[in-house]
Amino acid sequence: MSVGDAPHDPIDHEPVMLREIIQGLDLESGNTVVDATAGRGGHAQAIARAIGRQGTLLLLDVDEINLAFASERVRALADAPRVVVAHSNFSNVADVLRQHSLCADAFLADLGFASNQMSDGARGFSFAADGPLDMRLDQSTGESAHALLSRVTEAELADLIFQLGEDPFSRRIARRIIYIRDLGLLKTTTDLAKAVVSAYGGKARQSRMHPATRTFMALRIAVNKELESLDTLLAVFQQEIAGFSLARAADFKGQDHSIFGAGASQSDSIVRGSALGTPHTWLARNARMAILAFHSLEDRLIKRAFTDWERQGWVTRIGRKPLVASEAECGANPRSRSAKLRTVRIVGI
Ligand SMILES: C[S@@+](CC[C@H](N)C(=O)[O-])C[C@H]1O[C@@H](n2cnc3c(N)ncnc32)[C@H](O)[C@@H]1O
Repeated sequence: MSVGDAPHDPIDHEPVMLREIIQGLDLESGNTVVDATAGRGGHAQAIARAIGRQGTLLLLDVDEINLAFASERVRALADAPRVVVAHSNFSNVADVLRQHSLCADAFLADLGFASNQMSDGARGFSFAADGPLDMRLDQSTGESAHALLSRVTEAELADLIFQLGEDPFSRRIARRIIYIRDLGLLKTTTDLAKAVVSAYGGKARQSRMHPATRTFMALRIAVNKELESLDTLLAVFQQEIAGFSLARAADFKGQDHSIFGAGASQSDSIVRGSALGTPHTWLARNARMAILAFHSLEDRLIKRAFTDWERQGWVTRIGRKPLVASEAECGANPRSRSAKLRTVRIVGI
């Protein structure tokens, strides 16, 4: 079976900054890697090739369809690694790794949505296709955009569009949306897009992008609690790598917290960390973490965390500034234009 043939649907997503990500993750044959946003399996496939049949690839996605697609695509490779699949939010990555007794050498999160989700009108992400106001990446749970819009006040909606969509016309957009909602006329993506265009009025013609772009993005981020998930992910990693640091401090002071007694070697440091009350169960020493963000609010959270971790001596950042896509990639794949890639290596014990 060829790779493209494995799943029946078209791939409909171009992996962004593939070369830079694979380089930054510094993969070796036999590594255990988490692709926390498996999507259509583009990055996963390249990771699988790098780690080979001795490796293990844990695939996560909140979208069950994409998760199945990505895992089929990877499993269809010659010399595929062991593939472990979990339908889960990446904020639960530590629990999933523990459940499967895995210890990750590398971790990737390619944030947001995949192009196939956007182009499927039935998912409700796009103002360009008529569909229900759903916008959930995980269709098995959570509140749809329609449910969210049914309960918010005008002021709450204006704040949401301003904060997550950075639309300067947030107040008048919110007023118009709430007006049509209260008339019972807000049912589909087309209804929402028309409300935004009408709120823009004559300014719609001056707008470089479709006037509804920012409102749809803001609602998608809110519906999927995208910033909250990222924040939790960073907190979960921080807890783990701070534990690494405690274990190292104990080594330097020559203290022995080891359950194995005074003769325990440096390689028992991870166990010592556990004895200190910091469970080191899912992240390997020198593990690499790469996150690809497409929104300034996401990138700000990542930058703040990585800078702080480096200051604490827990990680080294690979490059001061985020990597961005090459001109050639931006030309070929417009989605890559807003991408910012940040990578860290956890400081070994
Ligand atoms: C940009 S796409 C990933 C594309 C993938 N790297 C590829 O090459 O095909 C993002 C994927 O992450 C999933 N996703 C978004 N937020 C998530 C979260 N918090 N936890 C797990 N998956 C998430 C989406 O459902 C989507 O399939």
